[in-house]
Amino acid sequence: MEKVVVSIGGSILVPGENDAEFIGKLAKMLKEVSKEVQLAIVCGGGKTARYYAGIAKDLGGSTYEQDILGIAATRMNAQLLMLALGEMPDAVITDPEELVKASQPGKIVVMGGTVPGHTTDAVSSMVAAAMKADRIINGTSVDAVYTADPRKDPNAKKIPKMTIDELAEIVYKEHGASKSSVFDPLGVKLAKENRMDILMIDGRNLDELKNAILGKPINGTFVNSH
Ligand code: UTP
Repeated sequence: MEKVVVSIGGSILVPGENDAEFIGKLAKMLKEVSKEVQLAIVCGGGKTARYYAGIAKDLGGSTYEQDILGIAATRMNAQLLMLALGEMPDAVITDPEELVKASQPGKIVVMGGTVPGHTTDAVSSMVAAAMKADRIINGTSVDAVYTADPRKDPNAKKIPKMTIDELAEIVYKEHGASKSSVFDPLGVKLAKENRMDILMIDGRNLDELKNAILGKPINGTFVNSH
């Protein structure tokens, strides 16, 4: 059975509109595909993370302290997804290795962040490396990688296929100015080292997400790491 890790952004899980309905549908689809692929899901923190980190910052909190609150939000989102999948634990797994130990065919395992200093994209690469996953799916609110920011540049073109080195170039260039909008640089580094492909897709589109998980053609960007 193929093994797939899905990094699902908090902006996808809880954008603040029809959240329960979407998470319910997502859980149903995941259960269906888990009969065909072994699945591990890593949830992002979304605006809850940003809101709490923002307040912490205003209170004089350090980056470390902001990260800690961001991580708490990712774990709350993981709990919501697990609730929808049928069982919500009191505490979420915090270590990628532990998650992989709990993983087995037919069972969906879910976690959020780990420790300060990176995002859940990087966590999904850590899980994928430990699991020896066939691919990583990044479900976000941007439906693919573009030649420029499509919200700012009308000439931005979708890139259907790229190499992991090309993605690395984009995320390393972006890093420093602000956090990468595409994929966490550490996540890209780990995916390259472990030769894991990354599929960048619109996570709100459940048909697209399903196709990506099953290894079928997608409308997003396929990042080849082989
Ligand atoms: P996300 O993974 O959601 O980060 O974690 P993001 O890229 O900022 O959000 P999306 O993908 O656009 O929704 C939220 C925050 O939690 C902290 C970081 O501060 C991150 O920005 N975090 C998360 C960690 O410090 N470590 C982790 O392992 C995960």
